[in-house]
Amino acid sequence: MRILGIETSCDETSAAVIEAKNNNTKYPCGIKILSNIVSSQIKSHKKYGGVVPELAAREHVLNILPVIDKALSRAKIILKKIDAIVVTRGPGLITSLLVGVETAKVLSYAWNIPLVAVNHIEGHIYSTSINNDQCSMIDIQFPALVLTVSGGHTFLILMHAHGKYKIIGKTLDDAAGEAFDKAAKMMGLEYPGGPIIAEKAKIPEPNNKIILPRPMLYSKDYNFSFSGLKTALLYSLKKDKDWKKRIANYCHEFQQAIIDCLIRKTIKAAKEFKVKTIMLAGGVSANIELRRQMQNTIDNDFENMVYCVSDIKYCGDNAAMIAVAGYQHVIKNDFTPWQKLKANCKLRL
Ligand code: KG4
Ligand code: ZN
Repeated sequence: MRILGIETSCDETSAAVIEAKNNNTKYPCGIKILSNIVSSQIKSHKKYGGVVPELAAREHVLNILPVIDKALSRAKIILKKIDAIVVTRGPGLITSLLVGVETAKVLSYAWNIPLVAVNHIEGHIYSTSINNDQCSMIDIQFPALVLTVSGGHTFLILMHAHGKYKIIGKTLDDAAGEAFDKAAKMMGLEYPGGPIIAEKAKIPEPNNKIILPRPMLYSKDYNFSFSGLKTALLYSLKKDKDWKKRIANYCHEFQQAIIDCLIRKTIKAAKEFKVKTIMLAGGVSANIELRRQMQNTIDNDFENMVYCVSDIKYCGDNAAMIAVAGYQHVIKNDFTPWQKLKANCKLRL
């Protein structure tokens, strides 16, 4: 079975083709990513310090067909041979979502191909099973806990089965990626802030005296808050006239504060709900320190925990993860006729 995935929820125009085998003989992992084209708009949004929705939508309109065409030709397949089209229905920027959704509807109508609509967060969740351009969900043992952290959301999700999600924690204000992006802007660094802060944080001075708060670290729930951390950084920078000389230290402490909050709540929930698998997803999961420290903490605190995190290239928004998440719906015949499909910018999991 070949599936075409389409993702346009924010500022990446992406299309992918995956091949799913039922008998697992050709690919030991069951699903093979045949192509995954991501056309990033970062250059266009950089000068505004964040994503400009109108600009994002215009670029999606221009890019969507060339990106789909490239994904199909790289996978050496024609549209007629595609068995299902999977598209992100929400959440995200409505004008961006509309481009992907309406394109998928047109293709479904014109070629009579069944259509599946998925939640963007579901895509991030299933991205954790993609490694070496193959995907195996065999590793996921339930109950499983997913920490999904990106520019638009920060969730702790409990899963008792495939497709069954319960949000047990979330950010009460800024998403973790958003906090990275805003902190970078304060320090005059470019958008997106996460990768640049991570890069600068690699070389702090040996005795880094900067201390930032870890909001809600010991709260009894599984929620997060990053807005106060951002304000604390702003006041620290204002008080320090030489902050530019110490920018690596500020980046290091800011990154560590976010990592501490994310890891503590994840481990606490994993123990409380006695989970067998921990999954780390979303754009912020590309952060090397977060991945490393999460792995170390899991190794120290649990005996047989399965830890799923994708290759870095599948952490950010991409259509391969959408196609993989859609496969879960395809095998259950959970299709949406094109006449009924509508983008929903506030779609809940
Ligand atoms: O999942 P994603 O590509 O888009 C959304 O759905 O939001 O996530 C983008 C976010 C941005 O906020 C970006 O700064 C952050 O992920 N990010 C990182 C890193 N790479 C991307 N944050 C921390 N460290 C990184 N290495
Ligand atoms: Zn995303």
